[in-house]
Order: sequence, then C-alpha cells, then structure tokens
Amino acid sequence: MKKRIVLYKRLSEDLMARLQEQVEVTWVDMAQPDGLARLRDALPGAHGLLGASLRIDASLLDLAPQLEVISSVSVGVDNYDVAQLTRRGVLLTNTPDVLTETTADTGFALILASARRVVELADWVRAGHWKASLGPAHFGSDVHGKTLGIVGMGRIGEALARRGAAGFGMRVLYHSRGPKPEVEARYAARYCSLDELLGQADFVCLTVPLSAHTQGLIGRRELALMKPEAILVNIARGRVVDEAALIDALREKRIRGAGLDVFAQEPLAIDSPLLSLDNVVATPHIGSATRETRQAMASCAVDNLLSAVAGVRPPDLVNESAWGVRAAGPQ
Ligand code: DGY
Repeated sequence: MKKRIVLYKRLSEDLMARLQEQVEVTWVDMAQPDGLARLRDALPGAHGLLGASLRIDASLLDLAPQLEVISSVSVGVDNYDVAQLTRRGVLLTNTPDVLTETTADTGFALILASARRVVELADWVRAGHWKASLGPAHFGSDVHGKTLGIVGMGRIGEALARRGAAGFGMRVLYHSRGPKPEVEARYAARYCSLDELLGQADFVCLTVPLSAHTQGLIGRRELALMKPEAILVNIARGRVVDEAALIDALREKRIRGAGLDVFAQEPLAIDSPLLSLDNVVATPHIGSATRETRQAMASCAVDNLLSAVAGVRPPDLVNESAWGVRAAGPQ
C-alpha cells in the first residue's frame, strides 16, 4: 500500500506526478482560511509532510503518530524543533546547495539597491520629480572597493565573499564560529570578531541561521558599533536583528540604511515603521525566489521525501541521529 503524505506547498505538475507515482498525496492549501484545520485533519494518517513556511510544533506532531519524515522546501530549519523531531524518530530534511547562488544574488541586489538608492530614486522618477540633473542630495555611495563584512561563513556567506572579492574588488571581513582557512585563501577574506567587523564594514551582511545563539545577535550595542555610513543587509532571518533597535538606528540616521529581505514577523505589516523610512529597502523574503531555484528546491524536497518513505537515507538529512532512532525501532 502506498504511504500517505501531506503536501502544503504547491508543486509543479511534473513534480506532483513524480510524487503521486509513489505516494498518496493530500494537498492542503495553507493560503485558504481553513488551511490549518484541513492540515490537522490530514495529519493522523500522514507518513510524510512536504512544505515550507509553517511552524510545525508539538500540537501538530501529536496529531501525526505515524509521521516518518518532514521534507522542508527551505535551507533554514527554524520552523522545526529538531531535538523534538529526533526524539520522536521523525527525519527532517532541507534543501541546501541549490539555493546558495540565488540567495547570494539577493544579498548583492540589496547591497546595490541600498547603496545606490535604486528603489527610492526609481520611486522619485515615477512620482515625476526628475526635472534636472541630480545633485549631492540624491547621490548614493560606491559598492566597489568597499569593505564587505559577512556574518556567518556558510555556503551563502562564501558565495557573497566570492561576489564581493571577484566582482566588486571588495575587502572581505567575516565572522563565524571559527576561521575558515580555505575561504581566506580563495577570497583574501579575514576572520575577525563580530565587534571588529561591525566597526570596519561598509556593508554588514547577515547570513547566519536562526538559533538560540543567533536570535537578537544584532542589537542596540552592535548597531552602535557600525559606522554611520554603513548599511545592514539581512538575508538570514528577521529575528537575528532586534528590529526595534534597528528602526531607531535608521530613524536617527545612526547607520546609513538597511536592505532587508527578512523580518521578525512575515509578511511584514503594512504599518511597520520600516516601510516609512526612505533609507530602507524591504523585499518580501525573496532570497531563493527565482523560478529555477524554487523548482530545484522543490525537486530536492521530493527526492528527500521519497527516499525517506522508502526507508532509504535521504540525501539532505538534517537530524542524523533520528536515522538511528528509526533504525532502533519502537522502544
Ligand atoms: C530558506 O530556504 O530557508 C530561505 O529562507 C527561503 O527563501
């Protein structure tokens, strides 16, 4: 008998067909008002879940006693309590690698848009204000040749370092759990403390995963260490930054600006003070959102799910020890 999976993220027809060949699929549209209720109804028989952007907490897991795997269409796994999944013997998989370059492109889009005031000035043109050639009030600042500070030197951090060093002739500083000699050799990057990075970088770019350790990593003290001309770019998770402190720093022009793809609450509320500041470029969590990359992520998630329900170790297993728990069987 086919195993049953609950899908809560829309897939392309070809991927849907690939899934349906091997498992029985219940589709739940979380955009509908009854999405959560339908998900809850589907959980009791589910062997697998495939989706993203939904916190899967203990109250949902309790409804799914047969659950073997959650296949997340994301690299970030902050929507899951990994330790709890492991205890329950539920495998968690993600979609690393395929989104690295696209997300680094988003980082650079925000760096360029913020430094060169692209969004603000495009709106200004659209509003009919362009009557004469520009003066200093509308000048931006250069990106090439400046100092790029990368917080978190994982795959995406490294892809940013490559763009900064090779594409824009930037000096690269980075802070992560420890130095990475191979990154330093490739991009002439220098490891330093977070405080030193904040004090020297023209662009502070956050790429760390959200965890108990990184939540609120950039607070009032850290923002105060940044140069007045510096720009903060966040392509990690909103809660890595103390958003209230950031709003104050931006309002008071204690830093030059921010390029933000992620927010403490998503979708960002229309009355967020961030949206009233002209030194903020805010995008709707588009990090990996290109047609090609979202299809590659979904394909990866389907592969992970089908492997897991077939009893094969999935390629992108996050909680290695859950594999052991499964192998040991019921206690
Ligand atoms: C991820 O995969 O975690 C990204 O934030 C989605 O764009």
